[in-house]
Amino acid sequence: MPSSSPFFLSKMGISLQLLRNRSAGGMSLLITAPCPRPRFLRSLNHFSTTVPPSPLSTIPHQKPQPSHTATLNSLLITRYCHQSPHFASLPHIFRRTIMSFGTSAASRLAGKTVLITGASSGIGRATAFEFANASGGDIKLILTARRETALVSIKEEIEKAYPKSKVFPIVLDVSKLPAIDTFVDNLPAEAKDIDVLVNNAGMVHGVDQVGSIAQSDVDVMFQTNVFGLIALTQKLLPLFKEKGKGDIVNIGSIAGREPYPGGAIYCATKAAVKSFTETLRKELIATRIRVIEVDPGQVETEFSVVRFRGDKSKADAVYKGVEPLIAEDIAEVIVFAVSRRENVVIADTLVFPSHQASALIMHRKL
Ligand SMILES: NC(=O)c1ccc[n+]([C@@H]2O[C@H](COP(=O)([O-])OP(=O)(O)OC[C@H]3O[C@@H](n4cnc5c(N)ncnc54)[C@H](OP(=O)(O)O)[C@@H]3O)[C@@H](O)[C@H]2O)c1
Repeated sequence: MPSSSPFFLSKMGISLQLLRNRSAGGMSLLITAPCPRPRFLRSLNHFSTTVPPSPLSTIPHQKPQPSHTATLNSLLITRYCHQSPHFASLPHIFRRTIMSFGTSAASRLAGKTVLITGASSGIGRATAFEFANASGGDIKLILTARRETALVSIKEEIEKAYPKSKVFPIVLDVSKLPAIDTFVDNLPAEAKDIDVLVNNAGMVHGVDQVGSIAQSDVDVMFQTNVFGLIALTQKLLPLFKEKGKGDIVNIGSIAGREPYPGGAIYCATKAAVKSFTETLRKELIATRIRVIEVDPGQVETEFSVVRFRGDKSKADAVYKGVEPLIAEDIAEVIVFAVSRRENVVIADTLVFPSHQASALIMHRKL
């Protein structure tokens, strides 16, 4: 929806009011929209006299600058507009929606230690930022993946934006099972008491059909998506049982619910994640350990580039004529689930973009 439409404006007015109420006035706000109209800017000025109208009115067709952020207090909440041509180039800190989480969620997340696998890109990376944001920075994040440089730059970005946060970037290849033991055993003392495990690392290789699938692809998909997830969960479960609580968030997929041609192995790995997750929830019924599954539909990340072994043009073709989800959309669902009251388990979610209704049914505007 164009951000300049009356509907958007009235929604925005309500959102601003809600934000003010929920954040007790403490927030930063970045407005970027294709065409903010005077009424919109007036409502902003009404919202806070400290928001200067002039830079905001110059944003529409320019790349937003950090100076466009009006700092009202400490809690950072930003508003972005997907339609902006500059959206993709926004720093991560600005690439988030107005959150429905608010101060209750921040207090429930406060002081937690969260371990995210596959945090160097896509959903894992966005989830790290979302946790930092939703907790107001009062959080410890253990970020793991194979690419250390990416993890270190995420650490720098998060710790700069949220000075209270503490980020531990640690290389971990989840497909190497002995490495999982070593990783957990050698965690820094201040990061050992993990409260939330986000089993996100995952990948797909190829679109080959059964009979032509390389054994190496079968192995790497199962080792990463299934064996790694199981091994890390088993390693951390005694800690969660000892504490009597903890959150395990497993990232599945529509592929685990609805297998499709060319995806036999990937779909089988995600179906395995689903079975494992549901069993675990049943086994832990007498505890406060929450087992949460989030199944994304189509999300534009590095996922398809990996599937097509680096062939960007093939990856781009997957998203031609459609508007996929962005990593932040799934990150919000993950953080929303974890920041509910202790007695609330968002057990299972399937998240599609609006053009998608199943693994293969999509509306494409070509
Ligand atoms: N994108 C979609 O359409 C979609 C849909 C449904 C489900 N999912 C699931 O969402 C999860 C995240 O994927 P994404 O879309 O964010 O893709 P992505 O951008 O490719 O991110 C995948 C992440 O997993 C990490 N990873 C891959 N192999 C690993 C290994 N052996 N050890 C440790 N980390 C590893 C990657 O980091 P390194 O390369 O640095 O190790 C990267 O950080 C996956 O489980 C995927 O199956 C994605």
